[in-house]
Amino acid sequence: MENFKNYINGEWVPAVSGKTFLNYNPANLEDIIGEFALSDKEDVNNAVVAARKAFESWRLIPAPKRGDMMRKVGDIFNRRKKELAQIMTREMGKPTFETEGDVQEAIDTAYYAASETRRLFGHTVPSEMNNKMNLSFRVPIGVVGVITAWNFPIAVPSWKILPAIAAGNTVVFKPSKDAPHSGVIFAEIMEEAGFPKGVFNVLLGKGSMGDHIVHHPDVNVIGFTGSTEIGTDIAEVCGKLNKKCSLEMGGKNAQIVMDDANLELALEGALWGAFGTTGQRCTATSRLIVHKAVYDKFLGMLKERAEKLKIGPGLVQGTEMGPVIHLKSLENCERIVKVAVKEGGRLVTGGHRVTQNNLDKGCFFEPTIIADVDETHTIFNEEVFGPVLCVAKADSFEHALMLINHSEYGLSGSIYTKDVNNAWTAAREIQTGICYINAPTIGAEAHMPFGGVKGTGNGHREGGWTAFDIFTEWKTVYFDYSDKLQRAQIDNY
Ligand code: UN1
Repeated sequence: MENFKNYINGEWVPAVSGKTFLNYNPANLEDIIGEFALSDKEDVNNAVVAARKAFESWRLIPAPKRGDMMRKVGDIFNRRKKELAQIMTREMGKPTFETEGDVQEAIDTAYYAASETRRLFGHTVPSEMNNKMNLSFRVPIGVVGVITAWNFPIAVPSWKILPAIAAGNTVVFKPSKDAPHSGVIFAEIMEEAGFPKGVFNVLLGKGSMGDHIVHHPDVNVIGFTGSTEIGTDIAEVCGKLNKKCSLEMGGKNAQIVMDDANLELALEGALWGAFGTTGQRCTATSRLIVHKAVYDKFLGMLKERAEKLKIGPGLVQGTEMGPVIHLKSLENCERIVKVAVKEGGRLVTGGHRVTQNNLDKGCFFEPTIIADVDETHTIFNEEVFGPVLCVAKADSFEHALMLINHSEYGLSGSIYTKDVNNAWTAAREIQTGICYINAPTIGAEAHMPFGGVKGTGNGHREGGWTAFDIFTEWKTVYFDYSDKLQRAQIDNY
């Protein structure tokens, strides 16, 4: 069996304890991906010490030179795209056309981060006094702890790691315990790109190890993607330790279909939003809100197409929907369907594990649609992270807006309509960080701010220029060349 190690200070090392854990292919639990280092507190400390030491010289490398290395990262991801997609699919299940897209997002992020190193604009502002210059610029913060989920095992880490390093920080990265091989790949690529030792470190392991990263006094910033439960715990610790943290947490994203929508287009959007990545995106469509005038018709169209989706291992050509990540997730899908039906939801299609065609060895769940729900139903409110879509009927545009905003989360929202006034009103009124008009709730582009409001986030945005707000602080410099004491607010008034 293949054995995978941590990457600390430019070396591949086992966990100090020598312990390991196994990871399995969710499409076939008999297929063991490998044995991975099970890191703990001591490993965290070793990585943080290396990252701190590296920071002292990395921060002084001119930003455009750091950008040159980012471009190399993009080139290497590009060269290895197809090969990596196979590894990622075996590890976390989604079809290879999706994992290729996942790698592409990292390529885009690398090139974007590279170009941003030649901007990183500051401000030069007139002083209120003579012979004095005021300016402000971004400075790196130090060691960044990156903790991510498995559903976008390369793209989402890249959103944090690449801007953080481009801005002059160093990184300790903990990939999900369900996607450790992707973390190893990330390290291989950073190693090949030639970053100085300690600039990027990877620690494999489980949640408790992530906790040590969050608590470590020499880690300055935490970038986290995962559940709201863990994210809010992290926020609490970071609050006490006065650390900056950027959180991307749960979602319960909805798509509105108005009576004037292009229904064929809305159907494609709903299918892709709800069942793409087996519904395991933070941005997945898990609620559909359909205007009463097209409700029955649209449900019929949806049922027909959902039942035709090709379910299977992501490594098999032609598969449209892969497995969920593990048995626990499969059981959760079964549980929520039972709850939904008990509360009065109508099971339109799906609701069961898939066992035929030799899929019983994996974690396959049918594309599931539960209709006739409203805002009082558990399924309308609870994040599932699986291929389970609930559908509510809206009486009017205003009712649809009420329903879409009835959520403790606020990551992504979508509306299909041809009415330009309703489209603009929805763009203003939908309480999410990302809003799509005539497009599904998934599909964010790497150079645009990504993040959510309400229970989804804590005010930060990854992606694009806004990622640099997370990983830098502002330094203000007053340059006085008057050769005399000039007292602000006093001598000049
Ligand atoms: C996620 O939802 O988990 O916007 C990340 C998208 C992808 C990234 C999704 N570019 O669908």
